[in-house]
Amino acid sequence: MVKIKVVNVVGARPNFMKMAPIIDSMNRYPAQIEHVLVHTGQHYDEKMSKAFFDDLGMPKPGINLEVGSGSHAEQTAKIMVAFEKVCLELKPDLVIVVGDVNSTMACTITAKKLGIQVAHVEAGLRSRDMTMPEEINRLCTDVLCDYLFTTDHFADENLQGEGVPADKIHFVGNVMIDTLVKHKEMAASLDLCSKMGLAPGGYATMTLHRPGNVDDPKILAGLLEALASIAKELPIIFPIHPRTKKMAVQYNLGHYFNTDDKVEGIWCTEPLGYLEFLHLNMNAKLVFTDSGGLQEETTVLGVPCVTIRPNTERPITCTEGTNVLVGNDPQKVLDAADSILHGPALNGRVPEKWDGKAAERIVKVLMDNLNQ
Ligand code: UD1
Repeated sequence: MVKIKVVNVVGARPNFMKMAPIIDSMNRYPAQIEHVLVHTGQHYDEKMSKAFFDDLGMPKPGINLEVGSGSHAEQTAKIMVAFEKVCLELKPDLVIVVGDVNSTMACTITAKKLGIQVAHVEAGLRSRDMTMPEEINRLCTDVLCDYLFTTDHFADENLQGEGVPADKIHFVGNVMIDTLVKHKEMAASLDLCSKMGLAPGGYATMTLHRPGNVDDPKILAGLLEALASIAKELPIIFPIHPRTKKMAVQYNLGHYFNTDDKVEGIWCTEPLGYLEFLHLNMNAKLVFTDSGGLQEETTVLGVPCVTIRPNTERPITCTEGTNVLVGNDPQKVLDAADSILHGPALNGRVPEKWDGKAAERIVKVLMDNLNQ
């Protein structure tokens, strides 16, 4: 039997928890699969990158391309130039990419042009919003990939509608939830809430970093005004993303944030590790977000989620889970928070195959197809 040689690619924070279970599963088949982890270096701060490797028990990347930040074109181009060298040297049978960040698309294009097969984990998600860089990344990635691993039936339908042959589409579930299932107990056992002076159910958490929300001073100020008013009733813990921090400083909006040690208002912290943030989210009364993964995690945790975006590529979190989409109109954010805090409870269910076994299914498909 010939071993399959796989290059696994990560680049930015939301990639790490998606790749960790895939590596775990591959490690169960040492005779069949040889794999190398490549980190593009799209995210590089200790708190945006290394902390996750530590929390998730991931091996250090075998190769780090250290591309860093830049415009989309610069970053994508740098990743492609560096990754091409890796592919030429390692000559893998397969490259695996996850999610929808610039690294995902850049490595897909590079590998495919060298005739290497590519698998996309979290394929078929569509916001239909071409102002989102991630939507462009998703479309370019999916059209090129040989294996499309999906999280739900909406993704399958999107791919089928785009003419993707059925034998390329594999509905396997959600690898991000594999990581959540594995770490839930560990996160629950932290004593972070008590250390921070937070009562379970007595606070909200928030992430906010999409260019559409934070790059325009009027939009960002309007959102922070609404959120600060909600935070008078329910403090909001906000591990601030470097992009948002940069923008808030640039637009002089720092006064909306409480940086003291007191639990009140919009309470800013540095970006948190995976386990810490999971601990805070599982004990939160509600979550405000514009990120993708958190919409899914809150659905599984059964915590209400207010998504500050006009659309979502993860509609199953609204149809089956606890997610409500409100766009970036401050009044809608206020109304949604009010109805969660004072209205009937939001009941959801966990979507099919979000059961902690997605990575195992992926590795099985790959071995069945590649190891013949
Ligand atoms: C990227 C992804 C986005 C994902 C997000 C999660 C793309 C197009 N976007 O957005 O889908 O939701 O990651 O975090 O790939 N910076 C640092 N330290 C870092 C990384 C970034 O300070 O380790 C700062 C830099 O000023 C940089 C800015 O954040 O210019 C934006 O980083 P970038 O990777 O371009 O995009 P994100 O906004 O993080």
